Amino acid sequence: MARYSEEILDEIRDKIDIVTLISRYVVLKKSGKSYKGLCPFHQEKTPSFMVDGQKQMYHCFGCGEGGNIFTFIMKIEKTNFPETVKILANRAGVHLPDDRKQHSKESEEKEAIFNLNKIAADYFQKNLFTYRGKVALQYLIKRGFNEELIKKFCIGYSLPEFDDLILFLSSKKIELQNLFKAGLAFRSNNTKKAIDYFRNRVMFPIFNLQGKIIAFGGRVLDNKLPKYINSPETIVYNKTNSLYGLFQARQSIRQDNQVIIMEGYTDVLIAHQFGFSNAVASLGTALTSQQANLMKRFADEAIIAFDSDAAGENATLRSINIVKKAGLAVKILNLPPNTDPADILLKKGKKYFANLIENSLPLIDYKLSILSQKYNPSHISGKLNIVKSLFEDLIEISSEIELQNDIKKIAEELNLTEESILIDLNRYKKGKNKLIKNSTIVQTSVEATYINAEKTLIGNILQNSDIIEKITSELEVEDFTIFEHRVIFSTIFDLYKTGEIISPQSIINKVEQPNIANLISQIVFKDVISFDLKAVNRSIKAIKIHRLQQKLNKLKKIIHLKEKDDKDVDAVILQEYQETLNKINTLTKSVS
Ligand code: CTP
Ligand code: MN
Repeated sequence: MARYSEEILDEIRDKIDIVTLISRYVVLKKSGKSYKGLCPFHQEKTPSFMVDGQKQMYHCFGCGEGGNIFTFIMKIEKTNFPETVKILANRAGVHLPDDRKQHSKESEEKEAIFNLNKIAADYFQKNLFTYRGKVALQYLIKRGFNEELIKKFCIGYSLPEFDDLILFLSSKKIELQNLFKAGLAFRSNNTKKAIDYFRNRVMFPIFNLQGKIIAFGGRVLDNKLPKYINSPETIVYNKTNSLYGLFQARQSIRQDNQVIIMEGYTDVLIAHQFGFSNAVASLGTALTSQQANLMKRFADEAIIAFDSDAAGENATLRSINIVKKAGLAVKILNLPPNTDPADILLKKGKKYFANLIENSLPLIDYKLSILSQKYNPSHISGKLNIVKSLFEDLIEISSEIELQNDIKKIAEELNLTEESILIDLNRYKKGKNKLIKNSTIVQTSVEATYINAEKTLIGNILQNSDIIEKITSELEVEDFTIFEHRVIFSTIFDLYKTGEIISPQSIINKVEQPNIANLISQIVFKDVISFDLKAVNRSIKAIKIHRLQQKLNKLKKIIHLKEKDDKDVDAVILQEYQETLNKINTLTKSVS
């Protein structure tokens, strides 16, 4: 699909009046500053469909559909985005560059970023072998990296100055704008100066399958936070469908018909150095289904080798399902507690690790072992908890043979009969159907404070983008609970970082998803009418409190489970519980 430039879309939008356009489909009557009519997207008797000529947007208060001229045509004519652009460009008398040209322009832009990234990576690597880069080289050596590995993965070092790379690249006549596009530099909001994105960090280039550098991860040399900074998403980098190390690993993965998925850059690097060159890592996020599908192109079996700490265990549990869905057989590496693959390789060596791989656990064995640490398998209540926790996996198994096999294992491990497990499993299935029905009713009837708060923030940013800085200093994208809000917020953040205009229009066009357009129009028309700093502060607070409350609930569950099993609750957990509670109280009391 050809992507049209923002300029072209703007030009079309400027030349087409949304009121005139929609009037061809809907009878509109003036109502205050805007126009009103019967919604063409749902059946209604009294008009709740609003069109605002100034905002160049529409919104239906009845069904929630909304957006701009592009989304309107897409929905009413059932056209895709490029078709819609053509229709409207024609109407506006705007000449579109032909697809082929558009295409080559896009690939030219991409090529420019690849080039730039390569120049930067070479420069970073050169730094490593200079006097000033010695600290970084020594750091890498201390971590156990050898020179061959440093070369193979093009590892480097970014100097501490705020504009070292910018100066170097400008001496090569590379335009600043391209550095912004590549995510190598950004403009400071206060001083408006251009600043290197990576400073004083060990640089790990991320390659695509063709061996082109699409992004970087940068690690501090000490314990400062954040430990890693990663390139923002760019036209060549989408972290949800890239895998660190895949370029270097792909041949081994194919040969072994097996991929090892790790958590960290360092794990992958050390693994390759020790000859486990089928190792890859997801990029700082939980494994995605796109990444799993990508792996499936090269192998039929995946071994999950995440850190064996609490976070890693959770990530493992989540990733198992994703990997299975992609059609890969999955096993889990049984690492000693609180280690990661890099630690183990460096401490115990190649043979030991090869043995771990050889003996990695099938899913059901892994879960049984995790759950047997959590619950006491010799008590009946412990057994019950373990079996219950496995139901979700069991109901997903489509092969009867596999199911039988797994149930047999569970029965043996817990000293239960296979029949009793099957009976409970069936009960669980029935109960689950009921539960789902109930919970959807609850969800649709109340809209929680934090959801409103999220909308309020987005709405206020759209009114006054100066507050983005403040919001990003207090909240992360992950703090937003609604998926669509996260999409909107990260789009806003991207637009902000690249210095583009933040408006309902630019977001709608950038995301190109109808449900996002609906939400934006709802926020613009209904939720946030004018800028309100107090509401912004209240919302930030509400979101923070919600996040803490979720954490508190999790901790509560852990504590209850332990208590039910007559086990001592970890002092650390109790302390965390108390601290979280204190934070909530302080926040709740504070005036905003
Ligand atoms: N990560 C990230 N941003 C952070 C922390 C982690 O993107 N602030 C990602 C990186 O891809 C990192 C991975 O999560 O490699 C795993 O994190 P961690 O285990 O903390 O890092 P390691 O790569 O193991 O680094 P090290 O061995 O140096 O601690
Ligand atoms: Mn790690």
